Amino acid sequence: MTCILVFGKNGQLATALAEASVGTEFQLEFVSSFEFNLIKQAADIQEYIANEASIDGVINASAYTNVDKAEMQAPEEAWVLNALAPEKMAKACKARNIPFFHVSTESVFDGESSTPYTLNCVVNPANFYGLTKLEGERLVQAVNGAGAIFRTSWVFSNTGDNFVKIILGLAKKYNTIRVVHDQIGLPTFAPDLANALLTAARYTLANPAKKLDPVYHIAGGGMSISRYDFAKYIIQSVGLKTKVEPISSQQFAAIAPRPHNAVLDTGSFTSTFGVDLPDWKIGLKHMLSKVG
Ligand SMILES: NC(=O)c1ccc[n+]([C@@H]2O[C@H](COP(=O)([O-])OP(=O)(O)OC[C@H]3O[C@@H](n4cnc5c(N)ncnc54)[C@H](OP(=O)(O)O)[C@@H]3O)[C@@H](O)[C@H]2O)c1
Repeated sequence: MTCILVFGKNGQLATALAEASVGTEFQLEFVSSFEFNLIKQAADIQEYIANEASIDGVINASAYTNVDKAEMQAPEEAWVLNALAPEKMAKACKARNIPFFHVSTESVFDGESSTPYTLNCVVNPANFYGLTKLEGERLVQAVNGAGAIFRTSWVFSNTGDNFVKIILGLAKKYNTIRVVHDQIGLPTFAPDLANALLTAARYTLANPAKKLDPVYHIAGGGMSISRYDFAKYIIQSVGLKTKVEPISSQQFAAIAPRPHNAVLDTGSFTSTFGVDLPDWKIGLKHMLSKVG
């Protein structure tokens, strides 16, 4: 068995990783925030990883993902979890000579590009959350260990808070809802992301001499979509009659700005690891068959 330590246990990605690893060669050992708090115990992260018996790699599925709270209420916590903790994980992995797989976000870009974001695009975080994640990327890359960083976008699943669940909740409660029309992205079904990460981990462990690129983009297959059209599609899919009205991001006035264009170009992930993520609509159908 290939033993991987995973930070995060009950989040969207961690839950999906647990399901995706069933029946594979991977034995994943999850660490929840209750077992080890990466913010309060940040100083002990390297020691924690050093003391793990026999592990072949580490996946960081933990993050401070509340974008609005990171902006105003808890910037220090977001900074520790998204920037400083991954650096310590990367250092501990390098010391053990094992790969580190870290997950980042489309919010490292400002979203002003008119085309999908490639790995060559200039980063310029859309908000404070994006800044913390970018600093995490920078610190992990500076360690220069094995493994890679995987940026993703618009993650949804049956677990935790996400756009799909928020829209379903609102659509069941109100006759009309208002959704922003000027943010487009590629929704990513967490189980598809989990499978893709395990494929990348499998490839990395089987090819230890091959130096990976520092960063890859993973996002749902299929067409990009605006949040407004995505909301309409979700509502239609479950047979609700809720009306959706388009509004601008400016009218919505979220605490933290969101990128207008959140579309990631995933070509480099596909060509390196031989994986194209399924159309996000298939993942949505699967999810709605359970929660819709
Ligand atoms: N959600 C999105 O739309 C989105 C978009 C782009 C990128 N991403 C990135 O994708 C990755 C996975 O996101 P996700 O949607 O799975 O996030 P999530 O559902 O919010 O899960 C966050 C995870 O972080 C862990 N965590 C939070 N605070 C912690 C602390 N103080 N100590 C230890 N662990 C802590 C949680 O621990 P417990 O297991 O104990 O609950 C949970 O497992 C993250 O790197 C995120 O930045 C997400």
